[in-house]
Amino acid sequence: MKEKILAALENEGEYVSGEELSKILGVSRTAIWKNIKNLRNEGYVISSVTNRGYKLEQKPDVLDKNKICEGLETELVGTELIILKTIDSTNEEVKRRASNGSVSGLIIAAEQQTGGKGRLGRVWSSGSGGLYFTLLLRPELPPADIASITLSAGFAVCQAIREYTGLDAMIKWPNDVIIGNRKVCGILTEMAAQSDRIDYVAIGIGINVNIFDFPPELQKKATSLFIETGKEISRNDLFRCVIKKLDEVLSSFMFSFSADDMDIFKSLCATMGKRVTVERGGNIISGEAVDITPAGELVIRDDSKREFTVNSGEVSVQGIY
Ligand code: BTN
Repeated sequence: MKEKILAALENEGEYVSGEELSKILGVSRTAIWKNIKNLRNEGYVISSVTNRGYKLEQKPDVLDKNKICEGLETELVGTELIILKTIDSTNEEVKRRASNGSVSGLIIAAEQQTGGKGRLGRVWSSGSGGLYFTLLLRPELPPADIASITLSAGFAVCQAIREYTGLDAMIKWPNDVIIGNRKVCGILTEMAAQSDRIDYVAIGIGINVNIFDFPPELQKKATSLFIETGKEISRNDLFRCVIKKLDEVLSSFMFSFSADDMDIFKSLCATMGKRVTVERGGNIISGEAVDITPAGELVIRDDSKREFTVNSGEVSVQGIY
């Protein structure tokens, strides 16, 4: 019934009286009123004016599997998509399901997370308006390849944001996406592996989409697509775009990146050419980020012109949060 009322209101685009709705749908006016109340509780903004009736003003930005999957033809990513209202952490949920045999390509998304996790044991604040999801992959690759898988995911999100919003999103090596100097997306990859091969990877992605403001301590470091564009973004459309890009990038990565892919990647990496500091094996390395290898390692040239490659770790980049 709710769907029928919505369809009638959308069809009309103007005020429709309760009487008319009850006639069209063959139910009582009380039933119409109850369903309108339920729709409002779900976030639909429906105005009502005496003698005119009801008008649909705004639809809620709820993640909707049908909308996300519309026209989506992917091979690797999104073989199954499950959307949850709330969960502790989509990474945790994917790991639980992976241990129970879920197949490669599964995506778990949630409207909210009660225990969203960031890297280095940090908390990832996960209220409404963000896009929080985890992709399960079972690649036939050695564990050392995990860094490039995460890098590929960041590359895909960066490209999707650029395509969908037109914003100049960039990658902060290894796995943040930034706009200007502020972070808009973080990625947390977790893995279960044998000594020579990956059992599964859980690639958790959090994108600040319709987040209207941040607490004072984050305002210089974090941003959202809403803040950058000044308008609400359809999370369903953006999600479809991200899944498509993840599929493209991860498929080409599985067969190793081409030189062209690497060139695009480097051109989107804000870390390149900047002065960076990173800890490696207990030593602090400082220098200029001069290259990224096909395996996804960052090449740093120190002041004595010695070159080091690093494949993980917290890198601080001069000028970026
Ligand atoms: C970071 O930058 O520290 C990584 C943040 C990763 C957040 C995402 S949100 C979806 C997934 N579930 C989690 O608990 N974390 C990741």
